Amino acid sequence: MIRKRTATIVSVQALAAPGHYVLTFDDPETARDARPGHFIAVGATTPANAGSSILRKPFSIYKVDPDAGLCTILFSVYGPTTSTMALYKPGDKLDFLGPLGGRVFDADPQAAVHHVMVGGGYGVPPLNFLAKTIKAANPSAKVTLIYGARSANLLVGDDGLREAGVEIIACTDDGSLGVKGRVTDGLAPLLAPPILGAGGASGGACVYTCGPTPMMRAVAELCMAHNTPCQVSMETPMPCGIGICVGCVLKKADGTFSRTCTDGPVYPATEVTWQ
Ligand SMILES: Cc1cc2nc3c(=O)[nH]c(=O)nc-3n(C[C@H](O)[C@H](O)[C@H](O)COP(=O)(O)OP(=O)(O)OC[C@H]3O[C@@H](n4cnc5c(N)ncnc54)[C@H](O)[C@@H]3O)c2cc1C
Ligand code: FES
Repeated sequence: MIRKRTATIVSVQALAAPGHYVLTFDDPETARDARPGHFIAVGATTPANAGSSILRKPFSIYKVDPDAGLCTILFSVYGPTTSTMALYKPGDKLDFLGPLGGRVFDADPQAAVHHVMVGGGYGVPPLNFLAKTIKAANPSAKVTLIYGARSANLLVGDDGLREAGVEIIACTDDGSLGVKGRVTDGLAPLLAPPILGAGGASGGACVYTCGPTPMMRAVAELCMAHNTPCQVSMETPMPCGIGICVGCVLKKADGTFSRTCTDGPVYPATEVTWQ
């Protein structure tokens, strides 16, 4: 069921990374129902930019606190919707649909595998949610976040993970923190030697990735080369977010087409056409 919500904003906090914010809103039903990989579609305009964005824009759920009834998203400012969201104050209303998404991350916290999250930019928030969900269900689960950015000051989305017992590997293009290079440079050592035939069923890695498409393609190809299962959360443009406009269609490896908003956004990497 698609739910149209009007929630009260509790806080909007600027992060150290320029142009990045976290926004927390009060919505007990969404806090209860959201799972890692779900997103909300926000409609946000001010009189100054009215009409410049008639479409709702999708944002992944970053954190939930079901006891307090709170949900948090992390966003970077690009255009009218995110510019407006950055100006919101506590007590303002957030207009959104959600939680949306038909297929979300599928992780078994009890499985004897190494759960490896690989993210970039605003792809990290849903992985933070997933990592914490796995650790909450099984504190002894082995969970690692590999995340990347051009420079250390642009790394976002790791809040609370160390405290939850998640290993963190930062990768920066300029070497200002962690591994100098791309997220695949951080991931490759965890996958070597290739787990031929194991399929991650026992003792191998399960990879979950979200971020820019070229990054996810590189992660997916590395995982497929190592026969390691990988789930990708696609961030195609989603004009409606609810399966009506067919503006988010993904061509799958079997030649069929899929609406990422309602059939995804999460797919096994092997189902996606990466060319
Ligand atoms: C499933 C899903 C989950 C998402 N989750 C998040 C999230 O958690 N946090 C978040 O910040 N964003 C997220 N996004 C992306 C977000 O929905 C877009 O960035 C959105 O278009 C911003 O709306 P806007 O009106 O501010 O800017 P728009 O008017 O949509 O964009 C303004 C201009 O910036 C360009 N632009 C927009 N986004 C980007 C980008 N990411 N990189 C480069 N150029 C861009 C556009 O092409 C346009 O020219 C998600 C997208 C999807 C599909
Ligand atoms: S965004 Fe409209 S059908 Fe998916």
